[in-house]
Parts: sequence; structure tokens; C-alpha cells
Amino acid sequence: MPTVSRPSLSRRQLLKGGLAWLASAWATSPREARAGGTPRSGAADYTRCALLSDTHIAEDPDNRFRGFYPYRNLREISAQLEDRLPDRVIITGDLARLKGQTGAYENFKTLLAPLAEKRPIHLGLGNHDDREHFFRTFTAPIGSGLTIENKHVVVAEAGPVRLIVLDTLFRVNIGTGELGQPQRGWLEAFLQTCDERPTILFLHHTPDSDLLDTRPLFEILRPLHKVKAVVYGHSHRFGFSQIAGIHLVNLPATGFNFSGSQPVGWVEARLTAQGGELTLHTIGGNRNLEGHTHRLSWRA
Ligand SMILES: [Fe+2]
Repeated sequence: MPTVSRPSLSRRQLLKGGLAWLASAWATSPREARAGGTPRSGAADYTRCALLSDTHIAEDPDNRFRGFYPYRNLREISAQLEDRLPDRVIITGDLARLKGQTGAYENFKTLLAPLAEKRPIHLGLGNHDDREHFFRTFTAPIGSGLTIENKHVVVAEAGPVRLIVLDTLFRVNIGTGELGQPQRGWLEAFLQTCDERPTILFLHHTPDSDLLDTRPLFEILRPLHKVKAVVYGHSHRFGFSQIAGIHLVNLPATGFNFSGSQPVGWVEARLTAQGGELTLHTIGGNRNLEGHTHRLSWRA
């Protein structure tokens, strides 16, 4: 079993570090998750999540690529999220532009701070992130970010579903990604012991191209029917597919696309115990699918 540490912070440290942001940036531990976590207030038969990826915030707010300004894009999306507050936000990595500079995370944090005071924001890491710099900005994991042999993993109960954010950052600014055996071992053990709540995994790398351990990952997931979907980014493409009945959701980038045929934006997900309704919100690129809802049914 990999080592799972759960650092604790004093009340003074919490206040010094900014309780609202920290408390919302990291979720509950597996032990807490099994105890039930915090259900959505009111009717808990669904949860609304905002799914973002590849924000690519640079140290320079005016950084521009392919005609897009990632900083301005995230500012616009953050305003949209404030207007229609989801229950929580998940961002699947490549938070930073290229090499995960500390200044990029400071900009990222500033852009999302107002939203983080209102809703949990769960952050994954991608190949353009730097784990060490990330933790300089977001401080130590607060009783919930799990350290699994140099990986950052988050588990959150979200009403009728469980969300697990995995870490596929392999080397900074190298395109390929990897979960690694310790993280896969932890994931398998956790999935075998947690309750049967429908579970959705989030990671950065596209399983069918740049993830080195896609095959062993799906060998774990295939027989565990509580796993319903895997959500990721990396390709800067928007699309849906399946492996063995497990839905694969490729999120568009918020920062920029690599092709004019692709949207730039985010996805609003309404998740229940039976399935999900995923609606595309575009702010640039190909906007033909603006407002389109894709419906998923979970495998039995
Ligand atoms: Fe990216």
C-alpha cells in the first residue's frame, strides 16, 4: 500500500492561510468520504458541477496564444460561474501556461478566489503544472488533499456521486502522463472498499494517447461497476466516447484550442445516481455546440 499522509493544521495556521480558499480547494479524505461527506443541501438527488480544464494561466496576464488570452478567458468563465453558482468546480489540470511558475498559480488563485469563497474548487495537475510550485501557492494539503508518493489526489462526496481527482503529472512540461503504480494501487484498494455510490474519476491526460498506464488503469476500473465515467482534458478537444461501458468525457480547454474546429469553454454537469447531463458553454473557438446537452446513462 502506498503511504497516505493527512497533514493537520492548527486553527491559527488555517486562519493565516485563508480558510475559505483552502477549505474549498481540497476535499474530504476517503475515511470521511465513507462516513458520508457533506451532501448537497435540500434534495440531494443530483449535483451541479462546473467542469473546466487547461486554463493555462501564465505569469503575464496578457499572455496570448493562437489569438486567445487564457487569463481573460478564465476571468470571463469565473464571472459566469458566479452568476450560476454550481455546487462545486473541478479543474482537470494544466492550470498553468507551460512550466507551472509560481506567479502563474498566484494569478490563477486571484482569478478564482471570489468563487472559492462560495463553492469548493477541486484542482488536478497536468503536464504543464509543477507540483512543488502549486503547493507553494495553495499551501499544504489541508486534511484532505492526499499525498500518495508525490501525487496529489482528492476524494469528494457530491450528493449522489463520488468524485476522485487523480494526478497524472509525470514530468513538468513533458507531454506524456502517468498515474504510477503507487497511485493505481491506492485507487484499486480504495474503490474495492468504498460504498457503491456512482463514482467519477478526473485526471488530466487523454487516455487514448498520452497516458502511459491507461491499460492497467482500465483493468482496475472495468470490473468495478461503481466507476461510471472518466473525465479529462489535455487534448483541448471536446468529445465523448466509452471503454467497456465507462463513459469518457474529454473537456474543452478554457485557455485556447489547438484547432479552429474546437470550442473554448467549460461544461456544466448535472449528475445523478443514474447518469449525467453535460451542457457545453463556449466563450470562443467553434461555438456551434453552444448550449448543447449530451446525456449519459451510467452502466449497471
Ligand atoms: Fe493543455
